[in-house]
Amino acid sequence: MDERTLKDVASIIKEAKYCMAFTGAGVSVESGIPPFRGENSLWTRYDPTILDLKYFQQYPEESWPVIREIFYDFFGKARPNKAHEVLARMEQAGMLGCVVTQNIDNLHQEAGSKVVHEFHGNSQQLVCMHCGFRQGAAEADLKVLPLRCAHCGGLVKPDFIFFGERIPEKAYADSLEAARKADVCLIMGSTGEVMPAALIPQEARRNGAVVIEINPEDSLFTRDVTHIHLTGKAGEVMAALEPLLFDA
Ligand code: APR
Repeated sequence: MDERTLKDVASIIKEAKYCMAFTGAGVSVESGIPPFRGENSLWTRYDPTILDLKYFQQYPEESWPVIREIFYDFFGKARPNKAHEVLARMEQAGMLGCVVTQNIDNLHQEAGSKVVHEFHGNSQQLVCMHCGFRQGAAEADLKVLPLRCAHCGGLVKPDFIFFGERIPEKAYADSLEAARKADVCLIMGSTGEVMPAALIPQEARRNGAVVIEINPEDSLFTRDVTHIHLTGKAGEVMAALEPLLFDA
């Protein structure tokens, strides 16, 4: 990636009226969280059926141990990386209006981002599928699975979106609103394979935003949605952009 392109991207961001970021699992890879797709990814090691809502309801004793292994034993130790940190710094400096994330790892918030629209929810909360009682995952006893509600005995699930589950309405509406007013949209670390999340950068593009993509590989956005593809790792690209955004 050449210096001129980085300089151009930094100027585009600094001159933006409303810049938004759309992030996927790739932005957390440098925090040690494997992506869902691609080499060494979760779906090559686990069957995504465990996150199918109907399957989970039918076979919670099968799904819950795998969910715990992926999202609680493992994710819990991850810390924000440079990409999360620079996005939070951009927001604090008034350069970034919001992050729309598909991630459920809470790393944007831990890095200091305040306006984060979580398209697929967040793994920090658990919810009873019968009475709606919510509790923090950190307070739950994940040794006894499947988790049952202390209030009604109903099946408890992580409060993130399973396949076949509706997107949280407020997150969806807020994300569309951002895409409609953005004149710059940064796409970081997403294959663009999952709908309706992938509609958000498409909507930004349709509304005239300049779309800048950060990903070592091409994605489903690269050909028709992306204007500038910075081919690299999110943490590394954002580390290179940072001095051009704040010092120059
Ligand atoms: N920096 C930037 N991008 C990266 C990096 C990195 N260090 N490492 C990998 N990537 C890219 C990959 O090239 C790929 O395009 O991140 C993307 C990861 O793809 P997915 O795992 O499919 O992530 P995502 O698009 O967010 O998946 C969407 O699928 O299973 C569901 O709900 C889950 O939110 C997830 C959704």
